[in-house]
Amino acid sequence: MEMNNNPFSLEGKTVLVTGASSGIGRETALICSRMGATVVITARDQERLQETREQLGEHCHAEVIADLTNPDDVARLVEALPELDGAVLCAGNSTTLPLQFGSREKFDDMFNVNFFAPVELLRLMYKKKALKKGSSVVLIASIGGTHSFMPGNGVYGASKAALNSVMKYAAREFASRKVRVNSICPGMVDTPLIHRGTITEEQLAEDAKRYPLGRYGQPEDIANGAVYLLSDASSWLTGHDLVIDGGFSI
Ligand SMILES: NC(=O)c1ccc[n+]([C@@H]2O[C@H](COP(=O)([O-])OP(=O)(O)OC[C@H]3O[C@@H](n4cnc5c(N)ncnc54)[C@H](OP(=O)(O)O)[C@@H]3O)[C@@H](O)[C@H]2O)c1
Repeated sequence: MEMNNNPFSLEGKTVLVTGASSGIGRETALICSRMGATVVITARDQERLQETREQLGEHCHAEVIADLTNPDDVARLVEALPELDGAVLCAGNSTTLPLQFGSREKFDDMFNVNFFAPVELLRLMYKKKALKKGSSVVLIASIGGTHSFMPGNGVYGASKAALNSVMKYAAREFASRKVRVNSICPGMVDTPLIHRGTITEEQLAEDAKRYPLGRYGQPEDIANGAVYLLSDASSWLTGHDLVIDGGFSI
């Protein structure tokens, strides 16, 4: 659309954000809109998604309630989409699940939400041409895919490693339509997700000391990275996993 002389701007772009009812996704929707984008937001929880919508004001194109592990919901979401310049697929979940206490069913749940859901959405958005020529997709993976960053996150890590792998293949396959695909691998970020589990606040505070920059991430640390990957400033970047982790993985 309109050319903008700031390559980092999202002016004139329409961007889908999944997981927009909380944490990294909500902050990504808000920062994208502040950078000029019109956003489409989706999540399961109507009330919390509505809160995001209220904060977005006129920059919200549409909100869609959808469970991304449900194929009918994914199809309905893709059907409702306008032509997109970008998408940030944040929806995901993690629970502490040491292998000995896991089960095939729990592992399937983990893969369904963190791997199959974004892969299916990505596939359909490309196939149905919801992603414009030159658009940019950002998948939210995790350093849990490459490091044992938290105890009991083996299958979570595996789901994110798998997502990163598909990201690279999608980047190559979609390059013919100049659609870029990258991921962000965050370290621990202070969102409701990390406070829901069995790890105590004391353990979290202790763990944060392992980060060279001395703290866990804030949602905007990740959202700002997503803005770069969505913007024209990164037009020659595809198939890349951007680690944003306060130096944890050094
Ligand atoms: N926080 C961290 O330390 C950290 C680190 C590395 C990577 N990540 C990744 O970052 C992403 C966002 O996490 P967060 O920390 O922001 O967590 P969060 O605050 O719990 O947000 C997760 C979002 O995903 C949505 N979601 C979950 N299951 C869904 C489903 N089946 N269908 C549709 N939406 C679903 C939730 O919305 P509803 O409940 O409304 O559906 C919510 O908006 C996740 O992929 C997570 O794995 C987080």
